[in-house]
Amino acid sequence: MENIREKLAELKNKYREIYGNEAEASVFAPGRVNLIGEHTDYNGGYVFPCALSYGTFALGRKRGDRKIRMYSDNVTRLGIMESSLDDLKAYENDHFTGYVKGVIWAAEEAGFVCSTGMDILIWGDVPNGSGLSSSAALEVSIGLLIKTMFSFDAMTQPQIALLSQKAENDFMGMQCGIMDQFISAMGKDGHALLLNTGTLQYQHIPLEISGAEFVIVNSCVKHSLVGSAYNDRRNECETALRLIREAMQDGRIAMPASGKLPEGLCELTPAEFEAAAGVLQDQILYARAKHAVYENDRTIRAAEALSHGDTELFGKLMRESHASMRDLYEVSCEEMDILTDIANAKDYVLGARMTGGGFGGCSVNLIRKGYAEQFRKEVGEEYTAKTGKKPLFYAGIPCEGARRV
Ligand code: GLA
Repeated sequence: MENIREKLAELKNKYREIYGNEAEASVFAPGRVNLIGEHTDYNGGYVFPCALSYGTFALGRKRGDRKIRMYSDNVTRLGIMESSLDDLKAYENDHFTGYVKGVIWAAEEAGFVCSTGMDILIWGDVPNGSGLSSSAALEVSIGLLIKTMFSFDAMTQPQIALLSQKAENDFMGMQCGIMDQFISAMGKDGHALLLNTGTLQYQHIPLEISGAEFVIVNSCVKHSLVGSAYNDRRNECETALRLIREAMQDGRIAMPASGKLPEGLCELTPAEFEAAAGVLQDQILYARAKHAVYENDRTIRAAEALSHGDTELFGKLMRESHASMRDLYEVSCEEMDILTDIANAKDYVLGARMTGGGFGGCSVNLIRKGYAEQFRKEVGEEYTAKTGKKPLFYAGIPCEGARRV
C-alpha cells in the first residue's frame, strides 16, 4: 500500500456511495511473504514469514436486521452481494463472499456470535493466486472487523488467525496450515516471525540485515490450490507420519529422543528421520516426508543465521529449500524453476526460492543492497525471453500485522 491514509479516505467515500451510510469500523490485514519453511506448517514445523505492506481493507457497519451485504471494490462488476446470518453456507457462486461468510461462521462456532447483520466493503492489493496470501489477508481483515464492530474483546489476534484458518479449512475446503493467517494477524514492523506451528510459540526476529534486502518476483503463473495438489501433499505427509508412528509403536524403529510419538513429521530431526526412513517404502511418501523434515531443519538454521547477520548462509538455505520443493515435494513449476535459476545465477543474489503453496506465484530473493534495479532489469528481461511472461516486482518490506485504521 503506497499510502494507507489516502486509500482509506477513498474507500470511506466509496462506502458512503455504495451503502448511503458511514462505515463505523475500518481495518487492514496484510498479505505475507514466507522467507523459508514451506509446507512445514501442517507438519508441526517452523515457518519464517513476514507481513507485507500489501493487504486488504475491510470497512463495515452493523445493520438493524440479519442481512450481510458485501461489496468488493476489486470486483465491482459483482455489485453488492447479499447473504444472511441465517444462511452461513458455502455456494458455488460465492466468489469472495465465501471468505467473509466463512469467518463469520467460524467465529460463531467459537462462541463469537454476531448479533446483527452488516454492510461490508473490502478492497485489497495482494494479487490473487500469487502465493502472497490474499485469502488470509481477507479472512483476517473480516475477523478483526467483526471483533471491532461487535466488541468481541476476548477475541485475541492469534484467535483471529485460528478462526480464519478454520474458515479456509472447513468452509472453503482448503486444508491449509496456520502460517498465512498467523502472520497476517501477528506481523511486526521490521521483523520476521519465527513460528513453531506445533505449539504456536513465536518469536519476532529483526530483519535489519545490513548489506542485503528481500525482493519478491511474481512469475505471473496463477495457481489454484483448492481441492488440488495441496490437499494431496497434506494427505501424503499424514500417511508417512502414520507409518512412522506405527513402526515406533511396535518397536520396529526407535522412538525419537523426546521419548514421545511425533505429532507431526517436523518433530523428527533429520537423523531420526533417516533412521525411520526404511518404513517408507513408497518413494513418493519418502520424498514428501524428507522435504518436510529437512525444510524444518533449514528454517531453524536460517532464522539463527539471520539473527547473526549471516546472509550468505541464509541465501544458501533458500536455494536448498527451492531445490527440495522442486525435486522432493514437487510443488514448483517450469516457469518458477526458470525464474529462480535466473536469479540464483547472479552473483549479487544470495538466494532465491519459491514462496507459498506453490505451482506458480512468487519467488522471494535475497539480494545484495544496491542491486535492486539491476535485478529487476536483468531478471525481468531474461524471464520474459525464456517464458514470454512479464514478471512483476514487489519490495519485501516487513510490516505490522492486522490493525484498525
Ligand atoms: C499455503 C498455505 C500455508 C502453507 C503454505 C506452504 O500458503 O496456506 O498454510 O502450507 O502454503 O508453506
